[in-house]
Amino acid sequence: TTIDAFIAGLPKCELHLHIEGTLEPGLKFALAERNGIELPYADEAALRAAYDFDDLPGFLAVYYEGMSVLRTEQDFYDLAAAYAAKAHSQNVRYAEIFFDPQAHTARGVSFDTMIRGLTRALDDAGRATGFTGRLVMCFLRDFQAEFAMATLVQSLPYKDWIVGVGLDSDEAGNPPVKFREVFARARAEGYRMTMHCDVDQKNSTEHIRQVIEEIGVDRIDHGVNALEDPALIAAIREKGLGLTVCPISNAHVTDGLKAAEIRALLDQGVKVTVNSDDPAYFPGYVAENLAALRPAPASLTDADLVRLQRNAIDISWAAPAVRDRFL
Ligand code: ADE
Ligand code: ZN
Repeated sequence: TTIDAFIAGLPKCELHLHIEGTLEPGLKFALAERNGIELPYADEAALRAAYDFDDLPGFLAVYYEGMSVLRTEQDFYDLAAAYAAKAHSQNVRYAEIFFDPQAHTARGVSFDTMIRGLTRALDDAGRATGFTGRLVMCFLRDFQAEFAMATLVQSLPYKDWIVGVGLDSDEAGNPPVKFREVFARARAEGYRMTMHCDVDQKNSTEHIRQVIEEIGVDRIDHGVNALEDPALIAAIREKGLGLTVCPISNAHVTDGLKAAEIRALLDQGVKVTVNSDDPAYFPGYVAENLAALRPAPASLTDADLVRLQRNAIDISWAAPAVRDRFL
């Protein structure tokens, strides 16, 4: 993909980015070596060749396996510092960054280790470049709700850094309502709320209905299948819920960029945004994702690109000062 000058220069806001999904093969090898971990791949090319999945569970298996190299505070620092540098290079001014604490605490890495590394990197990057990053804590939906609730309690001392909570991982058999009590408590604690409704999953439209009507989320991650039901689109518009869509990710876990759907969402006045999801695995950061939508059927014009960024800052949970600087 070629990134044209308009896309390169556009001030950007990213709202759907998993920090563990930015672990590039080069950094993965460097961290493995630093921690004395033997990776089952000869080199970076062999590792990239293993990034061969065609659905969500296939991707998730590779994604969780890759995290095993993240052990120390410095590892999490290096991961977030690399993303912040990349974001700054693409003129991303503000990002709300997902992290998956349970994927780390479940294998013996402490919540403090992880969050100190991530926040120190974002702090340093902010001072150096003006890039602002905030965290959104995702619960893994394939674990029990009790584990999510315990993780929510662990996060409370870090509310200055964590602006909201989300729900990700394998959607099959793990509907939004499984986490009803967890999200009610999160709301009571003052967190904003989003949930993944991944594209083309078995119960996509029912899950979208649940996140709107039963959970009361502030926005929806992916959520493209709402187009199948005009009542869902009407509810999304009426409540001003944003959708954080990830075209290159879609092309890897389902079929195609969903470019026609993104065009339709824009044309129907939904607050849709374009994001990168897991750019080390679905190759392309936010600029590449935008560039991929220049051709038909998305046919994004310069005005559309500006609208996408306005949508993003509008549905973001950024502080007023960040908002004002952006617009
Ligand atoms: N974890 C990381 N990326 C994800 C995605 N796109 N869907 C569900 N869980 C994820
Ligand atoms: Zn995601």
